[in-house]
Amino acid sequence: MWTTRGNAGKSMGVTKFLRLLPAAMLLAISAPAGASPDIELGRYLARECMTCHRTATATSTIPNIFGMASSHMTDVIRAYRDKKLENAVMQAIAERLKDDEIEALAAYFAMTTKP
Ligand code: HEC
Repeated sequence: MWTTRGNAGKSMGVTKFLRLLPAAMLLAISAPAGASPDIELGRYLARECMTCHRTATATSTIPNIFGMASSHMTDVIRAYRDKKLENAVMQAIAERLKDDEIEALAAYFAMTTKP
């Protein structure tokens, strides 16, 4: 990725590096020992969440989940899955998610801003 040949190659390398940096930092901070969450899986699964959550505004009943700390997101989704949090819609969605999918979604949303 790093090249010492010419400025064009070098500046492209820096830009790419900076774009990947937040994801790399996030993985370093939030990854539990052993497994690291699969951001691409999260991006894929998140398409379902977008239908509702991208419409979140300050006044709507749909909460904004973009940029939510991944540890909080995993706690909340597991709570819906265990029926500890009441919301029929979110319970039905969480019911179908496996642990690694929840971690992937949490990692994806933590590094994503509202579209
Ligand atoms: C059919 C609409 C809908 C879909 C699809 C949906 N949600 Fe939700 N979600 C809601 C609503 C409504 C609430 C607010 C529930 C409440 O107020 O109790 C919510 C709440 C949440 C919360 C809690 C936020 C907070 O601040 O307490 C999280 C986290 C969340 N959703 C994540 C997701 C994820 C991840 C997906 C995709 C896998 C998803 N949601 C898909 C409607 C939806």
